[in-house]
Amino acid sequence: MGEAVSPYLHLYIYISISSVLIGICGIVIFAGKPIPSMLPHTFRRTMATKIPTSFKSIIYSTHNVDDCSSVLSLHNYTAAEDLNSSIVVRTLAFPINPSDVNQLQGVYPSLPLKTMNYSTEVPSAIAGNEAVFEVIHTPRNSSGNLKKGDWVIPLQANQGTWSNYRVFPDSSHLIKVNGLDLFSAATVSVNGVTAYQLVNNFVKWNKGQNEWLIQNAGTSGVSKLVTQIAKANGIKTLSVIRDRDNFADVASVLEQKFGATKVISETENNDKIFGKEKLPEILGPDARVRLALNSVGGKSSSSIARKLEKNALMLTYGGMSKQPVTLPTSLHIFKGLTSAGYWVTELNKKSPETKIKTVQEFIELYKSDKIVSPKNEIETVEWDVEKDSDDDVLGMVKNAINKKGKKQMVVLKWD
Ligand SMILES: NC(=O)c1ccc[n+]([C@@H]2O[C@H](COP(=O)([O-])OP(=O)(O)OC[C@H]3O[C@@H](n4cnc5c(N)ncnc54)[C@H](OP(=O)(O)O)[C@@H]3O)[C@@H](O)[C@H]2O)c1
Ligand SMILES: *[C@@H]1O[C@H](CO)[C@@H](O)[C@H](O)[C@H]1NC(C)=O
Ligand SMILES: *[C@@H]1O[C@H](CO)[C@@H](O)[C@H](O)[C@H]1NC(C)=O
Ligand SMILES: *[C@@H]1O[C@H](CO)[C@@H](O)[C@H](O)[C@H]1NC(C)=O
Ligand SMILES: *[C@@H]1O[C@H](CO)[C@@H](O)[C@H](O)[C@H]1NC(C)=O
Repeated sequence: MGEAVSPYLHLYIYISISSVLIGICGIVIFAGKPIPSMLPHTFRRTMATKIPTSFKSIIYSTHNVDDCSSVLSLHNYTAAEDLNSSIVVRTLAFPINPSDVNQLQGVYPSLPLKTMNYSTEVPSAIAGNEAVFEVIHTPRNSSGNLKKGDWVIPLQANQGTWSNYRVFPDSSHLIKVNGLDLFSAATVSVNGVTAYQLVNNFVKWNKGQNEWLIQNAGTSGVSKLVTQIAKANGIKTLSVIRDRDNFADVASVLEQKFGATKVISETENNDKIFGKEKLPEILGPDARVRLALNSVGGKSSSSIARKLEKNALMLTYGGMSKQPVTLPTSLHIFKGLTSAGYWVTELNKKSPETKIKTVQEFIELYKSDKIVSPKNEIETVEWDVEKDSDDDVLGMVKNAINKKGKKQMVVLKWD
C-alpha cells in the first residue's frame, strides 16, 4: 500500500507546500531605490583585475516564516579558499525568486548547508540561488574553459548568490552565459531552464502539425518564455490569464511580443459552452492539445486539463492560487490523463549535463532573436559596491524581498 500511495502523497505535499509559500511571499513593503531600466552594465568595459581581499555577503543562520527578511545580516570576511588557485567572480545581478524567500522562511524542501566557511560565529549560509557573475580571476594553470570577463551562472542551486564576490574551486561549478543580456542571464537558471524543459523535455512534438500546449498564469515570467520557446519550435500555445479590465491589451502584448498563439480568460477557460463552440474554432482542424502546464491549481487546473487530448500530460510546477490541484476523476479513468510535478532544482541535481545543454540551447534561441529580454518585466534596485553602506545594502535587499508586483532584481554597480 505504501508504495502505491507515496508518490501521490509527495506530489500533494509539494503542491500544498509550494502553494502556501507562494502565498506568503506577497507581503508588501517597499522603500528601495528603483533605478532606471537602462543600465550601463551591458556596455561597461572596464574589468576588475585585482583579487579581492575582503568579501561582503548577505547571510542567514536561522529562519522566520512570518518575517523572512529579519533573518538576514550583512557579513564582511576574508575568503578561506586559496583565491590564486580558485575561480573568483564578481556579481553583476541577482533576482529575488519566490524560492529564495521560501528558503529564508525555512519552508522550502531544498536548503543550503549552513557552514563556518565564511568565518561567522554560528553556521551560516549565503542567501540566494541565482545570479549572473563575471569571472575576475582564473588559476594560472587552469584547465577549465573560463577566462576573465566571461559571464557565468552557478550550475546548481544553494550556492549563495547575494554577495559581491564568490569563489568556486573550478569551472565545473559554473555555466558560461556569454551572449545573453544582464536580465536574461540573471534569470535563465530558474525561469529560463524551467520554461525550456517544460516545453521540450516531456512531449515528443510532431513539428509542422497543428499541435498545442495550454497553460494558465499566461502573464507569468515562465509562461512568457514558454510561449516564445514553443513558437520557435512550431508548437502552438493557448495561454489562460485571469480576467481583468485591460484584458485585450494584455492579451495583445502576450500574442504580439511574447508569441502566444491565442490568449483566453479564466472565464472562458471555465465556460463549458466556450469549450464546445469557440475552442474548436481557435484550435483549427486536426488540432491536438498534448500538454498542459499548470502553475495555478484549483478550478483553473481542471479546466486546462479538460482541454487536453486523450492520454495527455499535465505538468504542475507552481500553485499560485494556493488551491490544491483538482482533476475530474473521468479525465483519469476515461481519458488517460497523467498528472505529474516538475521541479527544476531536483532535475538539475539529478542531471547537471541536461541543465548545461538547456542553457546552451536557450542562449542560441536568444541570439537568434526568438526570445526577448525580460528587462521590461523586471524592477531593478542598485547596489553601489563602492558607495553603499552595509545598512543601505541590507535595507535595499529587505525592501526588494517584500515588494509585490514585478520581479525584483538587484544590480551591482562596480565602477
Ligand atoms: N517548479 C519549478 O521548478 C519552478 C520553477 C520556476 C518557477 N516556478 C513557479 O512558477 C510560478 C511562476 O513563477 P514566475 O517567476 O514566472 O512568476 P511571476 O512572473 O511572478 O508570475 C506570477 C503569475 O501568477 C499569477 N497569479 C498570481 N496570483 C495568482 C492567483 N491567486 N491565482 C492565479 N494566478 C495568480 C499572476 O497572474 P496575474 O497577471 O493575473 O496577476 C502571474 O501570471 C511560481 O509559482 C514559481 O514558484 C516553479
Ligand atoms: C564591513 O566592512 C566595511 C568596510 O568595507 C565597514 O565599513 C563595515 O562596518 C563592515 N561591516 C561589518 C558588519 O563588519
Ligand atoms: C598569488 O599569486 C601572486 C602572483 O602569482 C603571488 O604574488 C601571491 O603571493 C599569491 N598569493 C597566494 C595567497 O598564494
Ligand atoms: C566549506 O569549505 C570546504 C573547504 O573548501 C568545502 O569542501 C565545503 O564544501 C564547504 N562547505 C560548504 C557548505 O560550502
Ligand atoms: C595548478 O598548479 C597547482 C600548484 O602548482 C597544482 O596544485 C594544481 O593541481 C594545478 N592545477 C591544474 C589544473 O593543473
